[in-house]
Amino acid sequence: MTASISSTLLHWYDRHARVLAWRNPPGAALPDDPAWPYRVWLSEVMLQQTTVAAVKPFFEKFTAIWPTIEDLAAASEDDVMAAWAGLGYYSRARNLVKCAREVAARGGFPRTEQGLRELPGLGAYTAAAIAAIAFGEHAVVVDANVERVVARLFAIAEPLPGARKEIRERAEDITPQERAGDFAQAMMDLGSGICTSKAPRCLLCPISDHCRGLKAGEPERLPVKPPKKARPERRGTAYWIERDEHVWLVTRDGKGMLGGMRALPDDGWTARADGSPRAGEWEMLGVVRHAFTHAQLTLAVVRDTGAAPPEGAGEWWPIARIEDAGLPTLFAKAARLVLSRD
Ligand code: ADE
Repeated sequence: MTASISSTLLHWYDRHARVLAWRNPPGAALPDDPAWPYRVWLSEVMLQQTTVAAVKPFFEKFTAIWPTIEDLAAASEDDVMAAWAGLGYYSRARNLVKCAREVAARGGFPRTEQGLRELPGLGAYTAAAIAAIAFGEHAVVVDANVERVVARLFAIAEPLPGARKEIRERAEDITPQERAGDFAQAMMDLGSGICTSKAPRCLLCPISDHCRGLKAGEPERLPVKPPKKARPERRGTAYWIERDEHVWLVTRDGKGMLGGMRALPDDGWTARADGSPRAGEWEMLGVVRHAFTHAQLTLAVVRDTGAAPPEGAGEWWPIARIEDAGLPTLFAKAARLVLSRD
């Protein structure tokens, strides 16, 4: 039965695989291109916690600017951080540069899951995905899509995260020896297009005959999620300081939140939204809201009305070129708020 699941799914993938810039066509031999593992690695790092639609333009941009791992290894961290702006989870960009330098120094990517795990920023999922997709190794790839498909297929009713052990074992059972990379991507395509979290399209599912969750009814209830923790609310203030068509930007401290990114100065996001701890005269322009994984932030955006020089280190950035500053989404929203008022 497990062989039948994998062969049926691969057959479906042969006909319905999404065409994506980082993918090999289904069933094709691995490309004989030194940049191939680089492209798979780059796409998999970008796809961590990020949708395919969001990743597409970033993948195009990165591979146009840095077509090989050696190009990326030679890039400055600032340029890579700026190019990553808008994709979120910025520690990925810092690890990306570290990893590129390490791989370039070694002369190429390790081919095995275990070897890949040693690289900066590569967890169990990413290492398995690269081993299977880039190198055709037999590796079992379990991401959130695969978790959902497997939990339904085998009607695993134990809540997450406890269910992960059984999900992994079942995923091992159904992963074929050959074409493990295609199989992983078939599971991802099934999970994102058919076996969706809400309203799964079971009538179109190629493996619905095998699905115990469907037989039991209400497959959409699986996997059972642990109760959601409320995201703490945080408030803060961002400062728009403008002189002669330039705005004052800072580079955020390397280790903290959005570390290494260019940004508007702010108050550390712990203060009240209705006041400003900075000396000076401030005009309240409005608020932007932004959801991080660990918190929901309401950021007041204020503009200074005085002419005093700004405090601390920073740079005057031409407002006409604000799009090129590489502001993370939160601060891009704040800049849009200001500029939409002018
Ligand atoms: N999500 C993570 N990796 C993916 C891939 N290779 N194809 C589609 N979605 C993905």
